[in-house]
Amino acid sequence: MPSVLRQLAACLVASSLCTTASMLPATAKDFGPSEVAAKENGFEIFNAVHSALRQWGSSLNHNGLSLFLATVPKGVLLYHGTHTTELPPGPEWLAFETEHAENFARPWRRPGGLRPTPPEGRMFDQHMHGLHGRLVVDNEESIPLGPNETVHGNLHIYRVTKPLRLLYIDGMGAGKCSLGTLDTQDLLLRGIRDHSPMGEFERAADLCAIAKEWELQGVIRMEAGFEIIKCDFSDSMELVSANQRPDFSNPGNTGYPEVQLLEYIRAVSQRYYGIGASRVAVDYSSMVSAMFYPVNLTNPDSQRPDLPRLVSATDKQLEVIRSRVAEVVNERFDGTHTNTIDWQGVTDMIVARYSERLKYMAEEIDTLVMFQGEVNNLINLHIEYARNDDDTLKLAVGRCTKYHTASIAPESPEDRLILAGIESVTSNICSTLFHVRELIVVDPDADSGSLVAAREAIQDLVNRLKWVEWRNCPKCGYDEVCFVAMWPMGDEESHYHPACRNSSAIATGLGFGSYWGPNDWPPPRKPDDNNTNGDGHRDL
Ligand SMILES: *[C@@H]1O[C@H](CO)[C@@H](O)[C@H](O)[C@H]1NC(C)=O
Ligand SMILES: *[C@@H]1O[C@H](CO)[C@@H](O)[C@H](O)[C@H]1NC(C)=O
Ligand SMILES: *[C@@H]1O[C@H](CO)[C@@H](O)[C@H](O)[C@H]1NC(C)=O
Ligand SMILES: *[C@@H]1O[C@H](CO)[C@@H](O)[C@H](O)[C@H]1NC(C)=O
Repeated sequence: MPSVLRQLAACLVASSLCTTASMLPATAKDFGPSEVAAKENGFEIFNAVHSALRQWGSSLNHNGLSLFLATVPKGVLLYHGTHTTELPPGPEWLAFETEHAENFARPWRRPGGLRPTPPEGRMFDQHMHGLHGRLVVDNEESIPLGPNETVHGNLHIYRVTKPLRLLYIDGMGAGKCSLGTLDTQDLLLRGIRDHSPMGEFERAADLCAIAKEWELQGVIRMEAGFEIIKCDFSDSMELVSANQRPDFSNPGNTGYPEVQLLEYIRAVSQRYYGIGASRVAVDYSSMVSAMFYPVNLTNPDSQRPDLPRLVSATDKQLEVIRSRVAEVVNERFDGTHTNTIDWQGVTDMIVARYSERLKYMAEEIDTLVMFQGEVNNLINLHIEYARNDDDTLKLAVGRCTKYHTASIAPESPEDRLILAGIESVTSNICSTLFHVRELIVVDPDADSGSLVAAREAIQDLVNRLKWVEWRNCPKCGYDEVCFVAMWPMGDEESHYHPACRNSSAIATGLGFGSYWGPNDWPPPRKPDDNNTNGDGHRDL
């Protein structure tokens, strides 16, 4: 085997990546972003860019560690479900799907409370148990409607009148659970270590204080559906309508509770691969990620090594990263860096080229000749066949690595870190393919044993890449959706093995205490907890 390939093979065996970055406890002085860290976290950076603002991958890899600037263009319609026809006086939530917002178009309130408090996660139970006609107060209680109260909520539709500048918090950033979905918000942005997963009004107030400082209008996050925390509803939006919702006791409206859950999930599932119609423009070049920094992302929960956490990062480290987010926001607005590279498009091209072919090789091809054909098909174009030496092969691996990035001119420091992450992935893919070529194409004595070794090498690569496409469902029936756990819904099975599910199968593992639990919802009632400040409930 030529020495370059021996080296590559050795390093593939030794670790998932050919880097030797050490995780030194950084001092504030020397702590900063580095290509070494970006390479070390290359697979995760690749997947984060690939799944940005996509419901599917962001549900599977729900602990997001990255922040991006994002813009909602003028003209986009956004939805808000609530008890009133009035504009909310403070920060509130906007959905991108009507089905999502309709869940909150209810007369939620607490006794004596000034504002309604939707007990999130119970909304489905409410539909299913036909509680319409009563005000659901929390898990245990409900109180009869007052004389002037109705069961009708209102669905507000807003039109964006000036582009909304927002901070996108990736992963399942609106997942109010203790698995780490809130690390970027609570630890990095808010600087709070001892946080409860709920406390949404406090969280929104803090995020809006940051948004104000950075001249942004709110944040975008994702739960089962994408949402905006909009800091001021009178800013850059106009109310199109605030229509009353139907009376569910009217026979003309039967059936709604029966289909509501399936249709909500169906609506959200239509955003698995993108929010649609350019309703949000993500500035990929503005990405700031904890994965660019030499921080300890290990999950203290040894049962979940797959989920990165920020809990072991020091306050100083978090502060350095947070300052860089502020700087990047500023640089994007003051014109220092304005060029946006379509990094997600780059990852899409790479995934499109390799995902099915790698699976085909790893799982289906069982003849040497077909395997040879597939490998040759993927890497032949990079090889200069007029020469045959180590250098030629090294150059070929290099060309293969840069095949989808050679035309890109990184501009910002973050571009260079994203590039380093992506190329560490393509380098891994290409090294593996050239190693496999050595085993089954170049070796004149290749036999069925070589085929087994080649399949194993490709399978190992597949395991390192962890592309979310490979966990997709086959085409589902019309009475089903491909269901992946999305806060607050889903059992463990739906996280580890997403599959087509009908309405009743989705209802298994609904609400809390399942994949996303245990958590502290609903928060314990304090005797003076009659107004909603800080109790964690909210409208959308
Ligand atoms: C119900 O509405 C009527 C008419 O607006 C008002 O006079 C009355 O005080 C209201 N009753 C309560 C309990 O709010
Ligand atoms: C990283 O964090 C984990 C979990 O908190 C801890 O067990 C480990 O010792 C840390 N590693 C280093 C190098 O500090
Ligand atoms: C829903 O799917 C489950 C299996 O997951 C099946 O047992 C059940 O009969 C289905 N329900 C309907 C109404 O089709
Ligand atoms: C909270 O509301 C309940 C029911 O209306 C009332 O009995 C209680 O006195 C209120 N508590 C406070 C502190 O206002």
